[in-house]
Order: sequence, then C-alpha cells, then structure tokens
Amino acid sequence: MLASATVTSAPDLAPSPSGTAAACPYGHAAPSPVPGTGRRVPLGPLDLFDEGFVRDPHPWLDRLRSDAPVHRDAATGLWLVSRYEDIRRVLLDPAAFRPDNAQRAVTPLGVPALRLLARAGFRLGPALADNASDSHPGLRRVVTRFFNARRVAAAVPVTERIAEELLTTVRAELDTTGRSDLFRAYAHTLPCRVMMEVLGIEGLDAAALTRWSDASLELFWGRPSPDRQLELAALVAEFHEWLTELVGDRTAPADGFVGALARHRLPDGKPTDPRTVVSACFFVFVAGQSTTGQLISTVLRRALAEPGTWRRSAHEEGSAEKWVEEVLRREPPVTSWRRVTARPVELGGTELPAGAELLLMLMGGGSDPDVFDDPGRMLPGRANSRHHLAFGLGRHRCPGASLARTEAAVALRAAARRLPALRLSPDAARAPTLGLLSFRAPLRVPVEEPPRTS
Ligand code: HEM
Repeated sequence: MLASATVTSAPDLAPSPSGTAAACPYGHAAPSPVPGTGRRVPLGPLDLFDEGFVRDPHPWLDRLRSDAPVHRDAATGLWLVSRYEDIRRVLLDPAAFRPDNAQRAVTPLGVPALRLLARAGFRLGPALADNASDSHPGLRRVVTRFFNARRVAAAVPVTERIAEELLTTVRAELDTTGRSDLFRAYAHTLPCRVMMEVLGIEGLDAAALTRWSDASLELFWGRPSPDRQLELAALVAEFHEWLTELVGDRTAPADGFVGALARHRLPDGKPTDPRTVVSACFFVFVAGQSTTGQLISTVLRRALAEPGTWRRSAHEEGSAEKWVEEVLRREPPVTSWRRVTARPVELGGTELPAGAELLLMLMGGGSDPDVFDDPGRMLPGRANSRHHLAFGLGRHRCPGASLARTEAAVALRAAARRLPALRLSPDAARAPTLGLLSFRAPLRVPVEEPPRTS
C-alpha cells in the first residue's frame, strides 16, 4: 500500500504568525510574518542539514506541526513526526513502531568507507537502542545498574572535582588572553571524563574517546562527503578495534561495566556474543558523553544570553536544575530519533505503509503549544517542565537521563560560581552549530570578562 500523505514533497514552509524567531538564542534572523497581514512568509525548501535549519529549526518545526504533522522529507525519505501526541504514541507502541533503524547511517556510505570498516572487522549487531528482540530487556538491565540513583549520587563529587579542574584552565586562559571557549575547554571534555571514572575505563586519553565518539556521530548521523567519510571511518575503525580488545580482555573485573556485559546471559541461557557486547559498549560510550557535552554547551550558551540566569544558577538552590530542564524541552541535544513502522498504520491523519522510516522531532514536541504554554519562552520551573520527550519514552527511554541532568546542572552551577562576571563574546552569535540529523549544539561558546576597573 502506498502512503496517502498529507504532504508528499517539501512544502514552502513558513513560521506561524506567532513565530518564535525573536527567541532565537543565536541572533538568527528567521523570516517573520508580514506585519499587519498575518500572511506567512515562505521559509524556503526544508533541508534538515541546511545551516538555516540547524541554527534555528523552530520556525520550520512550528510550521510542520501546524500544517504537515506527518511529512515526508524527500531528501532523506524520512517521515517527520512533529506533534507531541503523535511522537508519544509512536514511542509507546513498539509493536507498531520498531526501533530497528535507530542507528542506521542516514547518508549511505560509499564503497571505500565500507571497505575500510570491513577491513577493521567493524560490525555492530542490535544491542540497545536498535534492539527489538527479547535480548533487549536483559542487556538494558545491565546498563541501568550502572546509572542508577546511587551511582548518579556518587557521580556528583566526581563531576564537581573535574569541573573545578577544567575551570582552572578556563580561568588561566581568561587571565592570559582575556578570552576562552566554554565548549572546547569545558563542556566537550567534562562528561567524557566523568563517564570514564563512573565506568572505570582506564588507559585511554579522554580526548581519544571524544574524537572517536564525535566521528561516529558524524559518520552515521551526518552528511559527510566521500572524502570525509573515509577520515571518519578510519576513526570509527580505531574505536571499534579498541572496544574489541577491551571486550576480549578476560581479566576485566566482573563488577565493572564491560565485565558485567561480557558475563551477561541471554534469555536462552547462552553467553552474550562479543559482537553484541561491543555494540552495547559502542552505543553507551558515545551516548554517555557526547550528548551530555552537547547539552552542557547549550545550557551554558543560553544561560549566558538570558539576563539574570547566570547569577541565579550560582546562588539559588534548584535554579540550575530548572534551567537544564527548560533547555532539554526547548533545545534538546538529541533533536530527533528514528523508528520504522512494522505494518501499515495511521498516524496524525496520514496512512503510512509498513517499513516507513520515521524521524520523531523530539525538539518539536517540546515546543508543542498544545502541551506547553508559550513554548518559545524559557520559563524555568514551569508546571509540566519534565513532560518533554528529550530522553524518549517507553521501552527504550534513555537510562542515562538522570546522570545527564545531574552533570549539566553541576556544570552550570560550578561555572557560574567560579566565573561570575563571565559574558558571551560579541562573536558568539556567529559560532558554528553542530547540525547532524539527530544532534545539535553550539560547537563554540566564546566568552570574556568585562575589563576590571582599578
Ligand atoms: C543529555 C543527554 C542525553 C540525551 C538527550 C539522551 C537521549 C536519548 C534518547 C532520545 C534515546 C532514545 C530513547 C527512545 O528510543 O525512546 C536514548 C537512549 C539511550 N541512551 Fe541516552 N541520552 C543522553 C545521555 C545519555 C547518557 C549519559 C547515557 C549513559 C548511559 C545514555 C545512554 C543511553 C542508552 C543506553 C540508550 C538506549 C536505551 C535502550 O534502548 O534501552 N544516554 N538517549
């Protein structure tokens, strides 16, 4: 059966008259309605990787929600699902909407990159986010044990210590050059170092893990050119080789993360095969730090831009936590996530065939006016602040949500206390933004301090 889509090709999207352009934290001038007419100004064709969309997706998300809530994107073949209730329904119905495509490369890899990966023995099987089989609950339980409330509480002093150490470097940069970059010097590194301590990963430089992790995200969720694919594939192959060695090490302690996964028994009583253990580690080592680094980058960037937020985050109890929650709602680092229909199904008034690949616009759901009043405004502590879908929902809901929230709040509070006079540099509005299919965050947070008066 063919889909009877409400919209089958890229519409001329325009923001609603109450468009959110004014709220854009990057000073990006999105088109606005013609004053006094209520007429919509076209935004141009939708391109999920285009700089305009990446810098400020909200005008497009608003328009998708109101005019084409289940819209087929011609360039990627994905069905964009943008209304909160539709996204929620999909996440809560794994029988009709399977996760099998969650980690598939959105840009087909060329033969040279595939050859390079094959030579390195790179092969991932379903383990966590893309696993719909009966092995998923058990593997997931192993992971959740390492990120439960007790472990998150234990991660707080670790995060505080590493944050202080990194902020000392930021302080020194400010003292010597008058400038620093909170993404490079702080947000990018902090979660990786925390995760390595929490999971007991030793003998590896955190910079190597962030490099491998960033390369994996770009290769599978980006639009890299054939030459770039080769560079990224080389890094991903290195990552895979290191993981394979780690998993093959029979001396790994049984109570450590890798050891626990390697000793896990599948529902049929058989040991978990090394490929599945490598796949689970691959996903957790990427998800466990890149996404949190992206969240921290946006949290800091927006807190510095919003009058009074930096100061409150330093001194008011619970203020940093509330800010993090609003950022997760309005500007989540994981902007979307994929599912595929198991059978023909109706969604948001559109008939979808079996095998339709969906892109759930988690970021759009967090700004749905049917759920969140005045969604374009940052209102820390709003009544339903935790109802956003930034961590997914249901069977595959992110098991690292609590750790990510905690790390981001600690990171914001520590920076605001240590560097109370910090402000964004004038060039912050031009700083590049990471714009992958499902991941978005500032790649630079340039900061300075006002000159001291003697
Ligand atoms: C701000 C940071 C993070 C965000 C926004 C985020 C978001 C997500 C999302 C949207 C999903 C898919 C949920 C679904 O399919 O319903 C997911 C799954 C997952 N996340 Fe996170 N995540 C973050 C941090 C972390 C951390 C710190 C860990 C460390 C353990 C982690 C581990 C995982 C795992 C293992 C899954 C797959 C779970 C499963 O399939 O059962 N994530 N995450």
